[in-house]
Parts: sequence; structure tokens; C-alpha cells
Amino acid sequence: MQKVVLGIIGHPVAHSLSPFMHNTAAGELGLDFVYTAFDVTPEELGRAMDGIRALGIAGLNVTVPHKENVINFLDGLDEEAELIGAVNTIYMRKGKLLGFNTDGIGFMRSLKADGFRPRDKRAAMIGAGGSSRAVGVSLLRAGVSQLTVINRTPSRGKELVRRLTPLGSVSFAVSSSPDARAAINESDLVVQTTTLGMRKSDPLPVRGVEFRNGQYVCDIIYAPLETRLLKKAKIGGARTINGLGMLLYQGSESFRIWTGRRFPEEKVFRRLKKFLSKGM
Ligand code: ATR
Repeated sequence: MQKVVLGIIGHPVAHSLSPFMHNTAAGELGLDFVYTAFDVTPEELGRAMDGIRALGIAGLNVTVPHKENVINFLDGLDEEAELIGAVNTIYMRKGKLLGFNTDGIGFMRSLKADGFRPRDKRAAMIGAGGSSRAVGVSLLRAGVSQLTVINRTPSRGKELVRRLTPLGSVSFAVSSSPDARAAINESDLVVQTTTLGMRKSDPLPVRGVEFRNGQYVCDIIYAPLETRLLKKAKIGGARTINGLGMLLYQGSESFRIWTGRRFPEEKVFRRLKKFLSKGM
């Protein structure tokens, strides 16, 4: 019998733990599918999506830098993906490619698991890409009193602010400005959603930033588990949250969309931590 094929598209994607996570879950539940990583450059995205259709790939996760652009190649979006304007999960249903977004749910569950309650808190979010959209929407829906979007490129940051403004009080600061440092300092929660920090040589996404006791600092990167930013936050006395929880919970929700089955979260989380402790 033909195996069901699932996978992740991104660039880069070699670091992704999604194949390990979903193949572990499939093994636990005795499901006959295989999940693999496809490195797809932005130039090849359209051709890759044609290939997905032709090959009958059953479902995909989507990661940097395709979460927004991939929408152009889909047949429909669910409400959450439409509102966020980005897709991290694709499901092939009756020959149609449908887009979903499980990043927001994954992010909120991860905050909750670490004891952070967003209602009436001030938040700063570094980044304005596809993942940032999901994080921003979910924070505002959860009732933060103020959200500052901080980004290197003002046009992209301001576009995200326009998109988020109907949901609450949102402002913009460019990464290199004193306003960005001040917003971070005044926030109860700081979320880092750019790709900066994945490489050892990466600078901090906001230079000269200081953290303090009483703050929560979350970096949605999980490789490495402790980015330079999180190290700095810890030294300043802040509580830190890495991207492993968000990875797990967004994956759990994607898995439910593809298979209709409950993701074995506890078992997969234990296996993930064991895998990481041996070095990736
Ligand atoms: P995704 O859609 O998956 O979130 P993305 O669209 O590539 O990925 O978004 C990446 C985010 O990381 C953006 O906020 C981007 O900032 P710009 O809008 O200025 O490009 C940010 N980012 C990526 N590389 C960066 C770098 N070297 N310095 C600062 N920000 C960077």
C-alpha cells in the first residue's frame, strides 16, 4: 500500500525538529505515514506547490520564509489563517490545498504552560514576518493592554501594525531606535519572532537591550534552545521561555488537522527533550 507522505517546506529547514516530532507521534499511534523536510527556496515555491499537488502529498507544515507567500498557491484558507494572513499548515482535502494556522494556538499554550497570563499586560514583539502575525493576533485576542511591534524594516512593521490595529492598542518602533529599547524595558512580556539567533554569529535583534526581574522573555526559536537573547534575559533576571513548547503545541494541532487523532504530547515532548540532550 502507498504510504501517506507529510512534510515541512522552508528555507533553511535542515534544523527543523518537526520530522522527528511527527514521525515519533506516528510510531506511537501505529500510523502508517512518513514526514520529511523539503528545502524550498522562495524562487522555487510555486514549482514546489505544483509538485505537492502532482504527488498527492497529504499535508505540510510551512516555515520561514514561506508562511505569507504560500497563500498565493492555495485553494482556500480557514478563518484563523485568513485573519492572521499567514499559513503554517496545509491539508490536502479532496484534491484541494487548504491553509490553516496553528502557530497562534501553539504560542498561547506555550505561554500558559510557563505560567504567563497575557490579560492587561504590556507586550513587545520583535519581528513582523509570518510567525509574528500569528503571535500578534493571539496576544491581542488574549487581552494584552498594549503591543509594540519592533522590526528592522519599518514598512513591514507598519503594515503589521495596520493589520493588528482593529484588535487592540498597537504601536511600532524600528529595531535600532531608543523607542524599541524603551518599549522592551517597559513590557511585561517580550517575544522574539525573527530568525535572528538561529546562528551563533547572529547579533541581538535589538542592540543594547536590557532585561529585568518580573519580565517574561520568549524566543520562538528552538534551535538553539537558548538563544543569545534568552541568555541575556536570564542574566537580567527575567523568566525565559524557548520555542520548544510552541513547536510541540502547534505541531499537535497540525497533527489533529491531518489525522483527526490526538497527538501524544507528553510522550513526544519527553522524546524531543531526550533527543536534544544528546545534541542535534
Ligand atoms: P516568517 O514569515 O516565517 O516569520 P519571514 O517572513 O522571513 O519569516 O520573517 C522574518 C522576520 O525576521 C522579519 O521580521 C525580518 O525582518 P525584516 O522585515 O526587516 O526583513 C526578521 N529578520 C530576518 N533576518 C533579519 C536580520 N538579519 N536582522 C533583523 N531582522 C531580521
